[in-house]
Amino acid sequence: MEHHAHSYLAREPDTQGFIHYPPEEHAVWQDLIARQQAVLPNRACPEYLNGLANLDLPHHNIPQLGDIDSVLQETTGWRTAAVPALISFRRFFGLLADKAFPVATFIRCREDFDYIQEPDIFHEIVGHCPLLTHPAFAAFNETYGKLGLNADKTERVFLARLYWFTIEFGLVGRNPTERRIYGGGILSSPAETEYALSGQPEYREFNIIDVLRTPYRIDRIQPIYYVIDSIDTLFDIAQTNIMEAMRSAMAKGLFTPHPSLLDQHPPKPCLSENHRTKPKLN
Ligand SMILES: [Fe+2]
Repeated sequence: MEHHAHSYLAREPDTQGFIHYPPEEHAVWQDLIARQQAVLPNRACPEYLNGLANLDLPHHNIPQLGDIDSVLQETTGWRTAAVPALISFRRFFGLLADKAFPVATFIRCREDFDYIQEPDIFHEIVGHCPLLTHPAFAAFNETYGKLGLNADKTERVFLARLYWFTIEFGLVGRNPTERRIYGGGILSSPAETEYALSGQPEYREFNIIDVLRTPYRIDRIQPIYYVIDSIDTLFDIAQTNIMEAMRSAMAKGLFTPHPSLLDQHPPKPCLSENHRTKPKLN
């Protein structure tokens, strides 16, 4: 079945900064969060679950960004920024460098309940905002924004792999029985939250050069996850010379794509959230 492309427009805040959503959109939020809450315990990492408790997200309506911001400000000094459904790389990186996490203020329609191309408010808030209360995760995002601002087009493609295999699809915990999820692309998808720890995918120890050399697709369930030792490892990654690692990765070249990324089958529904890129090998 071909995925039906739906074009989304972000809702604009009113003069008080309040965003009005129609009742059916609040109902989508309610159903998405109920379904996600059921799979998070013992799968999401404790730092994420702490952040989620701290945010105290509403279950019956789409939250207002100001309520998220007050928790982020208190914990890491971050905030969200309401943005259109698609923004330029420059704006995306610039916001992160300024400790502002872009949130497109629209929610998927029922037709796209399990899978959408664009990251919506559910993905950004439930997937990423809980960990933005954690200093290591926050610092990593800020560093990433600063590097992205100075990167050229080729470098940005490499940087995107680092983001993909950490912020979006990262796992934490070397011991398989204690392994947990911190990637927001997983944590905003119930199917991938269950799959990621199922033992079916391949788990690789995080190594920045390997990560930068690993192709991925946004429209496939991830065949490979990279695992960090602890959330604080993100501090260490942020402090490594990422551009130097990138030069090594470029010199060594990309790994052969995992076979599941090369097949011609249409994307399975209910899989990964994805990020501002077209469905192709990245
Ligand atoms: Fe994301």
